[in-house]
Amino acid sequence: MSKNFYITTPIYYPSAKPHMGHAYSSISADVIARFKRLQDYKVFFLTGTDEHGQKIQKAAEKEKKTPLEFCDQISKIFLDLCSILNLSNTDFIRTTEKRHYDTVQHLWNLLQKNDEIYLSKYSGWYSVSDEAFYSQDEIEEVDGIKRNIASGSPVEWVEEESYFFRLSKWTEPLIKFYKENPDFIQPESRRNEVVKFVESGLKDLSISRTSFNWGIPVPNDDKHIMYVWMDALTNYISATNYFSKENNNNFWPADIHIIGKDILRFHAVYWPAFLMAAKINLPKKVFGHGWILSGEEKMSKSKGNILDPIEIINEFGLDELRYYLMKEVIYGQDGKINLENLKNCINSDLANNIGNLSQRIITILLKKFDGRLPAIKNLTQIDKNILETNDSKFVNAMNSLELHNYVRQIVNFASDVNKYVNDEEPWNIKRNSNERIANILYVVIESLKKIFILLHPIMPEKSENFLKCLSIKKEDITLVNFNKKLEIGLEITSPGILFKKIL
Ligand code: ME8
Ligand code: MG
Repeated sequence: MSKNFYITTPIYYPSAKPHMGHAYSSISADVIARFKRLQDYKVFFLTGTDEHGQKIQKAAEKEKKTPLEFCDQISKIFLDLCSILNLSNTDFIRTTEKRHYDTVQHLWNLLQKNDEIYLSKYSGWYSVSDEAFYSQDEIEEVDGIKRNIASGSPVEWVEEESYFFRLSKWTEPLIKFYKENPDFIQPESRRNEVVKFVESGLKDLSISRTSFNWGIPVPNDDKHIMYVWMDALTNYISATNYFSKENNNNFWPADIHIIGKDILRFHAVYWPAFLMAAKINLPKKVFGHGWILSGEEKMSKSKGNILDPIEIINEFGLDELRYYLMKEVIYGQDGKINLENLKNCINSDLANNIGNLSQRIITILLKKFDGRLPAIKNLTQIDKNILETNDSKFVNAMNSLELHNYVRQIVNFASDVNKYVNDEEPWNIKRNSNERIANILYVVIESLKKIFILLHPIMPEKSENFLKCLSIKKEDITLVNFNKKLEIGLEITSPGILFKKIL
C-alpha cells in the first residue's frame, strides 16, 4: 500500500511578480516533496495564488485593471515560475476558482451552524500590506506614521460592521494542542513565539469587511466579504475538495504547511482554531522558515531590494541555484545570499567536487573496462567503509527538516569519496593491479549512484542526467535503488560535463 503525503507552500499574493523569497519557499517545499517520493510516498504538493482582499484590489486599481484581469495576469507568472523552478507540484490553486469559493462558503456555514460566528463592529488597526488586524500594543509611530512593530507595515484605523469568529474561546484548546503536539510548530523558536502569543490571551477575530468588495461574499449577507486570511487559509482544504463527495481527503490532514515566519500567526493560531471550531482535523505540522536577506534586510517587494530568480537561473542554471539556496541557508533561519557565494559554491562543491569525481572515474572506466561495471574481489576495509555508506544520516537530516544538513552531508560524502580516489589512485597502473583498479571504480560508481539519487530532490535535472548514464530511469530514482547494488557488467556512458566552472 502506498503512503500519502500532503505538503503545501503559501499561496502568494499576485500583487507583484515573484522574487527569490517566493522561489526559496517553493523550492524548499519541492525538495521535501521529492524526497518523500524517493521514499515511495504518494505526494500531493500544492501551491497557488491568494487573489482577494484590499491589497490586490488597490494594486489592480493602480494599474487601471479589474481585480480579476490583474490577478489573471500575475497569477500566470507564478504558475509559469513553477515550471521554471521545476517544481513537482501536483496542483496549483487560485482563490478565484469556483472549487475554492464553494469550500470557503461551506466552511463559513459550518462555523455559523456551530455558533462560532457573531455580528458586531470592528474598530482597530489594520494593515493592508499584511492584511492583518493588530492590537494597540503592536503599533508604534515612526516619523508620524503608525506601523506594526514586527512587520514595519503601515496601519490604518478601521471602524466598520463586521462578523467575528469566537477566537478567544479557543485559547485554552490551542495551548493544550501545542502541549500535546510539541512538533506542530517548527522550528522551536517559532513555536515559543506562538505559544507566548496565545498564552497572552486571544481576542475574537474580525472575519468580514464591508468597506470594499473584492472577496468572497458572506453567505446570506453579501454586503460583507470574508476576511482574506480566512479565505486564503481554506485553500488547503479546497484543494482536497474537502466538503465534496468526490474529495481527495485521504490526503487531509496535510502533513506539513511550509511558510515564511511572517505568516506564522495565521497558520499556527487562526487556521487551527478555525479547524477545531469546524471539527476538522488539524494539519500535522507548520514549518516557518526564515528570511532570504539582501544585505542585512529582508528581501521584499515593498523594500525594492529583490534578486530576480529568473535572471540568476539564466546566468547560473536552475539546479545550481536550487543547490545553493538549500545548502547556504540554514532551514528555519535567516540567510544572506549573494552572487559571490553562489559562484564559489558552484565551483567548489559542484564543479570541483561532485562533477570532477564523476568525470574522472567514468573516463577511467571507459578506457580500462570498456565502460562496463567491473566485478569486485577482495575488497579492503577502506573500500568497504565507503561502499557500505547507508542512507540513515540523510534520511535523519530530512526527517528533522534540516535541509541544509541534508545537502551538507551529501557534499561531505562526495568529499570522502574524492579523498578515497586521491589516496587509492585508480589511474596509477604502476601501483595498482587491474583487479585493484576494478574494486576502486566499482566502489566509486556505487557511491556516485548514491550521491546522485540523494541529489535528486535538490537538483532533479542533473541527477536524472547522471543516473541515465547508469541506466537508471527517472521513475527508478528511489531509496530502494540507493540500497540495491548495480549489476556487474552494466554498461555505463559518460555524462559529459555536468557542472561548468564559473570564471
Ligand atoms: O503572505 N525570504 O503572501 P506573500 C523568504 N498570501 N521567504 C519569503 C521572502 C523572503 N525574503 N519573502 C517572501 C502571503 N517569502 C499570503 C499567504 S497562505 C494561506 C497566504 C515567502 O505573497 C515566504 O514563504 O506575501 C512568505 O511566507 C511568503 O513568501 C509570503 O508571500
Ligand atoms: Mg507578504
